[in-house]
Amino acid sequence: MNDLALFGGQPVRTAPFPDWPRSTSELRDSIMNTLDSEGWGVGSKAIERFESAFANFQDAKYCISTSSGTTALWVALKAAGVKAGDEVIIPPYTFIATASAVLMANAVPVFADIDSETLNLDPEKIEAEITDKTKAIMPVHIAGNPCDMDAILAIGKRHGIPIIEDAAQAHGAEWNEKKVGALGLGGIFSFQTSKNMTAGEGGAIISNDDDFMDACFSYHNCGRVKGGEWYEHSHLGGNFRLNALAASMLHPQIDSIINDMETRDRSKSLLDEALSQIEGISPIKAYTGTTRQAHHLYITKYNKTHFNDIPRETFFKAMQAEGVYTYMGYSPLYREKLFITNADEYPWLKDTDYQSISMPETETIADEQAVWLRQNHLLGNERDIQDIVDAFVKVTSKLKSNPELFNS
Ligand SMILES: Cc1ncc(COP(=O)(O)O)c(C=O)c1O
Repeated sequence: MNDLALFGGQPVRTAPFPDWPRSTSELRDSIMNTLDSEGWGVGSKAIERFESAFANFQDAKYCISTSSGTTALWVALKAAGVKAGDEVIIPPYTFIATASAVLMANAVPVFADIDSETLNLDPEKIEAEITDKTKAIMPVHIAGNPCDMDAILAIGKRHGIPIIEDAAQAHGAEWNEKKVGALGLGGIFSFQTSKNMTAGEGGAIISNDDDFMDACFSYHNCGRVKGGEWYEHSHLGGNFRLNALAASMLHPQIDSIINDMETRDRSKSLLDEALSQIEGISPIKAYTGTTRQAHHLYITKYNKTHFNDIPRETFFKAMQAEGVYTYMGYSPLYREKLFITNADEYPWLKDTDYQSISMPETETIADEQAVWLRQNHLLGNERDIQDIVDAFVKVTSKLKSNPELFNS
């Protein structure tokens, strides 16, 4: 019997998954309090209060909130000393902002391949890319799964290169029982709508380093000098400050994320346990130093050789018909049109031929294997998660037993 929804059968699920972002009375009260009595921008208590609470939550001494994760990245790179023509090592399997912030600093993104088991920058691929122009290494904790920070920090130390963590997706994640973000020189977070903590837009930089944070203050605040005059400008900065209403929305989420993280932990282990029983579907691994993941997204791997060579995209279509939306996620960044540049726009890239880059691990994951679920799915209850599992089981067993159905 062919009961797949793709061919007219009953879908596993018709109900939506939990809403995200989520409006709560705590958020509304906090916004109204700031709106009525705390100032809306520079000098607002709401900003100060959020920065200090977020630094504390992430086990860091300092936090500076910013208008977005992208601006936080640019500010952090500049504060780390990245100058025109310098190189920054990043993975190609990440959101575009990781690379575009490097370009916006007039620097050269240098890609190093990922580890296909964790989808994070592979520490073993980093050293081959280091040159005398390398001024930062920027690991990205993809889906909130921490990178191998012991290995990456050791490389940074050996070569005297600062590590800036792109923790845009990793609120609350821990490496060796310490929250990520300030394990090296500093790191950044995003509060854009899809993130596990959100104000619609927003970002933050955290660090334990006074000089770095003073420089971040300057770059994110029009180049002003910390403790200096209002019209005194020491750097080429911008207005990349967070507004106070956004800060007031974020503050209550430092509490609510704790509950959400427990829900995400439960969903992730239920999914990993059930999906790893399906031959050809393999969950993403974590490095041994990982003591907590943020589970921003759920990513798993589809190996078509176990499914009669039927491509992942067919699996996506059948899953969508069952009411569970899965998708491919990132493409290798070096293929983006932005890197096929003309020398007028990015003259400092003229010696880099991004079109000739090929990174096998990233390409296998991006082009063939990665299967993503949106982050709100992880906020579901056990019934919601069971529906996801049921859809995976229903679709994958048909791909195995009746490949001819998918040939037309
Ligand atoms: C890995 C990564 N880096 C940077 C960013 C940029 O953050 P934002 O969208 O807040 O600018 C994002 C967010 O989308 C991200 O996922």
